[in-house]
Amino acid sequence: MFWAKTISIMKNDLQIESIASVPSTNAYAKVDRTLKEGFVLLTDEQTQGKGMGTNQWESNKGKNITGSIIFNPQTIEPSHAFLLSMAVSIGIINFLKPFVPQAIIKWPNDIYVENKKLAGILIENEFTANSITRTIVGIGLNVNQKKFMHAPNPISLTMLTGKTYQTKEVAQALFTSVYNSYHELKQDPETIYSEYHEQLLGINTQLTFCDKTGSFEGKIEQVDTDGMLTILDNQNRVRTYYFKEVEFKNL
Ligand code: BTN
Repeated sequence: MFWAKTISIMKNDLQIESIASVPSTNAYAKVDRTLKEGFVLLTDEQTQGKGMGTNQWESNKGKNITGSIIFNPQTIEPSHAFLLSMAVSIGIINFLKPFVPQAIIKWPNDIYVENKKLAGILIENEFTANSITRTIVGIGLNVNQKKFMHAPNPISLTMLTGKTYQTKEVAQALFTSVYNSYHELKQDPETIYSEYHEQLLGINTQLTFCDKTGSFEGKIEQVDTDGMLTILDNQNRVRTYYFKEVEFKNL
């Protein structure tokens, strides 16, 4: 099924495979129906890496982590699908904390350090009426790349620490942490929900936001399990938004 297979590791029930080049690990995992829960597909190069919405994901060949993991989260109701985003974000934060303790989540699920983007998550769910049958979680983590051409405000691990990393080792630890966090979600969703809020940029801090009516100051109150963001503005007005309806100014 895979071409140019270079690595296959069994770590608990996580199966990690790597291929040299693919248009997008998410697109590949979506089409290959044989891939089971806990399967991780890594690649050195994505020729059509996808970001959120219509964005592209920039990553130079062999420099960073670009990969996707498969979940079958049948117990999670479609209306609470954003819990998966929360769990994945927390899995990435837990992995980063020992060496990048200042990493934080920017709603909905970007990983930021020093007001710059270190990692992005692209979650694609398949639903029936009552359950989420299959989820592809794509993660792009900037590791050894120092210069970016198109990404708006990127940062990488090497830019933060001055070190060079073994991407395969980093990927194994990262996806293990994400998979552990997903299992924690299935056992104890309240803990994941509160951990996400503890790590959320703007939860206790005044920030400037911008929506279709203009810019305003406020603090984030909470994020619902369907991903809706609630901001309390400086006039004590409650404002709610879904993805792309509000922006963080200067970030
Ligand atoms: C974002 O816009 O922040 C989401 C970026 C997600 C990028 C990853 S890289 C691996 C996986 N495959 C893709 O095509 N995209 C995701």
